[in-house]
Amino acid sequence: MSIYSIILAAGEGKRMKSKTAKPLQKVCGKALMEWVLDATNEAGAERNIAVIGHMAEEVKEFMGDKVEYTYQLQRLGTGHAVMQGIEPIKNEKGTVMILCGDTPLITGETLKKALSDHEEKGRVATVLTSIAPDPFGYGRVIRNGEDVAKIVEQKDATEEEKMVCEINSGMYFFDIEKLNFALSKLDNKNAQGEYYLTDTIEILINAGEKVGAFVVDFDDTLGVNDRVQLAQAEKIMNDRVVKKVMLEGVTVIDPSTTHISADAKIGMDTVLYPGTIIEGKTVIGEDCVIGPNIRITNCVIGDKNEIISSVLVDSTVGNNTSVGPFAYMRPNSKVGDKVKIGDFVEIKNATIDNGTKVAHLTYVGDADVGKNVNFGCGTVVVNYDGKNKHRTTIGDDVFIGCNTNLVSPVKVNDGAFTAAGSTITDEVPENALAIARAKQVNKTGWVKPKDRK
Ligand code: UD1
Ligand code: CA
Repeated sequence: MSIYSIILAAGEGKRMKSKTAKPLQKVCGKALMEWVLDATNEAGAERNIAVIGHMAEEVKEFMGDKVEYTYQLQRLGTGHAVMQGIEPIKNEKGTVMILCGDTPLITGETLKKALSDHEEKGRVATVLTSIAPDPFGYGRVIRNGEDVAKIVEQKDATEEEKMVCEINSGMYFFDIEKLNFALSKLDNKNAQGEYYLTDTIEILINAGEKVGAFVVDFDDTLGVNDRVQLAQAEKIMNDRVVKKVMLEGVTVIDPSTTHISADAKIGMDTVLYPGTIIEGKTVIGEDCVIGPNIRITNCVIGDKNEIISSVLVDSTVGNNTSVGPFAYMRPNSKVGDKVKIGDFVEIKNATIDNGTKVAHLTYVGDADVGKNVNFGCGTVVVNYDGKNKHRTTIGDDVFIGCNTNLVSPVKVNDGAFTAAGSTITDEVPENALAIARAKQVNKTGWVKPKDRK
């Protein structure tokens, strides 16, 4: 049996009050619609068709060819939206799942369970429902004994119907042929003057077809209409990601203050301290100690590293290295094994080879640094001349004295030393000591005894 999906995403999403199209709002670093698409793909969709309208071009540009598109130029209701979405597949045989682009918490697993139920019971339509703590605003599922009788929208519901807590999640499975039939019978005679997809349920029941409901967890059905719900979805999704990471062998000391992107991978026996934020496609190895108070974005970090109170972006760290506290690794920094990047150190677009120590108050930008180099406190790589950035090269086993300026482009060869306080502008030969500062002059007797306090 072929399975297809239609994802409704033409709505305006007014309540988000945003310049970004609602389906592209993010939860745990991933667009709402991407989450939905992950779920439909996991449930076995052969083709996914998005119905777009409001900010269609933005949605299309972001989602690319991961979905097919149909346009709904006038928003005349969810039934009207599905009339557009069904077009490319209306002559196919099989089942179509209908979902909304703003329900990121639905999972492939839940869809698969619902699909099995739909097939086993031999229904032509199954609506996914849940029990809402506060059903206000949702369509209510009205039952006749065990059977579903109809779905009534909030605005069309009687006082009695409004008491019902079983709500329509807005997700359904339909036999394509029967859906075509039901759509052809839709009208817009209701409180909102819209073509309601929900009316197809009653139409099919009246036509003597087998229709039913599959009850799922309310969390799975949470729709994101405003920033409050966006934060709720973020919380639930993050809890899921953190839980998964913990079950894979990562210690998370305080799950409530730990944020992990769904695309991140973290190795066994790594410990995450409170205030850890791991974003993007970050990979962290085993036996690391991360945090507290850290933000790591799109980094690849090896095993046995300790990273404390720092910010790392688009960078890599080897093994047995320590970073922080209060370090900033900016894009394209590559730090090797057994390296120390200490407090108040900034690294940018630089490679730091194995065994090197940059312990305190240092800036290393646009540089290639060799093995076992020691940076004294307060070193500055002077990479910018006001117009252009230049590169600095430092060999192996170099000792950079405290408060050295390395005016780029410049090279310090293997085994060389720079004296503290030097401003290095010329290449330093191998094993040499470069001293580039004024010689100390002591003016004896310069202070008159009567001037002393
Ligand atoms: C809809 C359901 C309601 C259900 C609720 C779940 C109907 C009539 N009502 O109500 O029973 O409880 O979802 O969240 O179906 N959309 C379009 N084009 C349109 C209208 C909507 O693409 O013309 C899309 C929206 O972008 C959104 C989805 O359909 O993704 C749902 O639309 P929305 O207006 O939020 O429906 P509700 O009134 O919440
Ligand atoms: Ca809605």
